[in-house]
Amino acid sequence: MRQEILTADKITFTYLDGTTALHELSVKIPQGRRAAFVGNNGAGKTTLLLHFNGINRPDDGEVRYKERKLDYSSKGIKELRKNIGYVFQDTDSQLFAGSVYQDISFGPVNLGLPPAEIKVKLERVMRETGLLALKDKPPHALSHGQKKVVAIAGVLVMEPEVLILDEPTAGLDQVSASRVMDLLNSLNNTGTTIIFSSHNMDEVYAWADIVFVLKDGTIIAEGRPADVFRRRSVLQAASLRKPLVLELYDNLVSRGCLPAQAEAPATGEALLLLLGAHDVRPETREGKSHVAGV
Ligand SMILES: Nc1ncnc2c1ncn2[C@@H]1O[C@H](COP(=O)(O)OP(=O)(O)O)[C@@H](O)[C@H]1O
Ligand SMILES: [Mg+2]
Repeated sequence: MRQEILTADKITFTYLDGTTALHELSVKIPQGRRAAFVGNNGAGKTTLLLHFNGINRPDDGEVRYKERKLDYSSKGIKELRKNIGYVFQDTDSQLFAGSVYQDISFGPVNLGLPPAEIKVKLERVMRETGLLALKDKPPHALSHGQKKVVAIAGVLVMEPEVLILDEPTAGLDQVSASRVMDLLNSLNNTGTTIIFSSHNMDEVYAWADIVFVLKDGTIIAEGRPADVFRRRSVLQAASLRKPLVLELYDNLVSRGCLPAQAEAPATGEALLLLLGAHDVRPETREGKSHVAGV
């Protein structure tokens, strides 16, 4: 079992209008992993994610980063946000500068880093995210997918240990969504912990190491995606659909068309290969780890 990087311990949170969005919710995020939160609209995903970088503060219970309770002083929050990047669901609320370059440089400039260092960081991040050609464009003139990548780049430039993304692929077409997930892949491969929420069960199944199912402000199930998504009662309670690849694989095995594997295939490509297909085009989402005990 890996060490947790973020922990919520019995947190309760009520909005000003009296809506209690989280009820004594506890969750541990293992370091270096890809953790996904799923659940219907209003389940509490955004409210919870906003606790991890100190935007929301629990009324009861506590949030810990590396075993230490969050320090909500302005100094503590500034320090925390150097380590924990947050990409909001609504990209427009995150992008405000006159150009892509200025937008991405906002964090480092705000930290007072020397201009030469900022330039080096910016060039690296823009190269990694494929944004060099767009550097002078105003963010409002970008497509939704490009805006999302700029918002992610603006957080990456701070080199956070944890990256939180609230529904990062919502509203993106397949190509843009794959681009975002590829970017998250390369970050996770270099050790960044990724926490995201999603309504796309196929994406969560293919990509996450650990999944948490939220309903009415509490966690009703957690574990490895194949295990969680096989629990009919959980899917029913949270009105979630079983991921297509897992559903097909389980059906094929139960009908005797395919021998059971130690691990269910994570992607359509992996399933096709099991079925003996030879001309399978590689899928973009490589690198998923299957490590027990998360
Ligand atoms: N600013 C707010 N004021 C009052 N209630 C809110 C606010 N934001 C969210 N809520 C309520 O909190 C609950 C959880 O919402 P949210 O965290 O946005 O869920 P999710 O992200 O899973 O869709 C819902 O009942 C929602 O109506
Ligand atoms: Mg939300």
